[in-house]
Amino acid sequence: MNAPEAHKNVGSATRSVGACAACRADRRAGHRARQKGSRSGLPYVGVGTSVFSRKKSKTPSFVIASESPLRRAGKRGNLNLGDRNMITLVVDDKELEVTEGTVLLDACLDNGIYIPHICHLRGMGEPHASCRLCFVQIEDVPKPLPSCTLKVREGMVVKTDTPEVRALQISALRLLLSVHEVDCAHCPANKKCALQDTARFLHVGLKPKGLETCLKEPRIVQDHPLIDYYPNRCVLCARCVRQCRTQNGLPLMTFAGRGFETVISFYAGGPMPECADCLACINICPVGALVFKNPAP
Ligand code: SF4
Ligand code: SF4
Ligand code: FES
Repeated sequence: MNAPEAHKNVGSATRSVGACAACRADRRAGHRARQKGSRSGLPYVGVGTSVFSRKKSKTPSFVIASESPLRRAGKRGNLNLGDRNMITLVVDDKELEVTEGTVLLDACLDNGIYIPHICHLRGMGEPHASCRLCFVQIEDVPKPLPSCTLKVREGMVVKTDTPEVRALQISALRLLLSVHEVDCAHCPANKKCALQDTARFLHVGLKPKGLETCLKEPRIVQDHPLIDYYPNRCVLCARCVRQCRTQNGLPLMTFAGRGFETVISFYAGGPMPECADCLACINICPVGALVFKNPAP
């Protein structure tokens, strides 16, 4: 399978979280445009790591940024990458030279080798590794492993497209879809959704034959003054929780419940002044689970 076209342009399209009021207003305008499905709104760009491309393509539009801040700084001449050890590995018969310590998933994406992934957040420390989509086969390792949990090693030989890897990825996707309310026409993430992209890449329909679905109640949680939460669209990837904690220095949201009942929950029931200037959780959500409320008329 080919690497996504969108991935190759990610570096230039990635914006960091703007601190100024103009940037924040700009982002909020973007949320509203997504909700309305307006094609005249700004293209959605995730906070530092994800991109929703508007370009029609058979390849996934939801991708992790191909260029890390470290690499970009190196290109601008601000950083001497020569000080860092480079190692060589082979992925799908292609020799890659990457910085020692790089996460294997990032190394592949940076070199145009696409591996399905939803929960990975580049540079955010310990991987959450919940989506179970990013499996690869490492030579001399008996079972496929999630590439977001591995660091590159000198001489590593990796295959991303074996039948076992694809079977695991398809199982993981079917599991996500078995608790997902697929109603793309009424979802703000339509055409820029990680699930849609993954399903297309793996040649799996969003409503596979014979797959029983089990949905949660209520379908919408409207406790937050600015954000509506759709539990049956949520893939429990934790990107929102981790981003919120990083951005605000304290968690304003968390997981609540156990097992099938697990949902995202906001801590405060009342007004949350931090959220009005942030909304990073909406930006970082790979599906349409967090939606900016329509402003009062
Ligand atoms: S989150 Fe679900 S309903 Fe929304 S676009 Fe993606 S697959 Fe469709
Ligand atoms: S709300 Fe979105 S970002 Fe948060 S856990 Fe659910 S799918 Fe992931
Ligand atoms: S991206 Fe590796 S498990 Fe989700």
